[in-house]
Amino acid sequence: MKGVIPAAGLGTRMLPATKSQPKEMLPVAKKPVIQYIVEEMEAAGIKDILIITGKNKRAIEDHFDRDPILLEDLKKKNKVNQLHDLEALENLNVQIFYVRQAIPTGLADAVYKAKEFVGNDNFVVALGDTIIDSSQSPIHLARLIDFHRKAKAVCALSVEEIPLEHCNRYGILAVSPFLEEQKSTQTKGKYLVKDLIEKPSPKEAPSNLAICGRYVFSPVIFDYIKQVKVGKGGEKQLTDAMHLLRKEGRIVALQLAESEKRFDTGSFPLYAKAFVSFCLRDKEIGEELRAFLKNLEL
Ligand code: UTP
Repeated sequence: MKGVIPAAGLGTRMLPATKSQPKEMLPVAKKPVIQYIVEEMEAAGIKDILIITGKNKRAIEDHFDRDPILLEDLKKKNKVNQLHDLEALENLNVQIFYVRQAIPTGLADAVYKAKEFVGNDNFVVALGDTIIDSSQSPIHLARLIDFHRKAKAVCALSVEEIPLEHCNRYGILAVSPFLEEQKSTQTKGKYLVKDLIEKPSPKEAPSNLAICGRYVFSPVIFDYIKQVKVGKGGEKQLTDAMHLLRKEGRIVALQLAESEKRFDTGSFPLYAKAFVSFCLRDKEIGEELRAFLKNLEL
């Protein structure tokens, strides 16, 4: 299965930090956000990845390029830790391709740019600014791919429960329990999607289950993206394409497990939470930062 990472958005909520650099390249602990997502795809068995880039996004391509001169330099200077981290990046067992979305007119349009790359295969979409931290095995994305296949669905989505007052920030689902074929019993955290609404008000929201940045699609989604009109926020919304996709077959949803956590890095408060969480668990940074934060609280 191929993977697609939309990373062409303007990142206006992160201005001025994102005026001339991609928000997907902002560091979370030692790595840029998008590296976590490429690593997640690799861990889920995806080998071919298309990144949707655009204006001011050149740093993404530079980051994933091989740099033998830098490696040699680190070796000569015996910078062991940096060498280790850089080799891990260079040794990622994936091939990365790029296509540009010249004008970021919405996530639906960004995904449409992957049509040629994807061909007739099912494919994964993972948002370029959202880390899913999954310590469980197999990881969430691998389970989502498996669920899409076993449920013979046209689309499988990752979801999580959010406070109802935040539902106007997300695509929200109307669901019924997903019944396993042989058992006719509901499996925890699996749903059949009845409908999807982009950023509803708390009154309009049919549930507090929010789409959280991971999707598996059958290529038929492209037929419906073509039909999508400009929606909420003046953008072509992927949620609106999925709303139309329901007539093609089942859409299913898989909730993040308790041990799995979503880190959205698209706004300053959320980015700060992601940055501190990942730094605190880093072997080199964690201890010193924890001591510093304790003193701050005094
Ligand atoms: P967001 O809506 O969070 O990103 O999209 P944005 O539009 O850059 O953010 P703000 O609202 O201006 O701050 C989630 C992901 O989808 C990509 C973004 O780059 C981000 O990784 N995206 C969004 C595209 O690739 N193209 C688009 O037209 C919109």
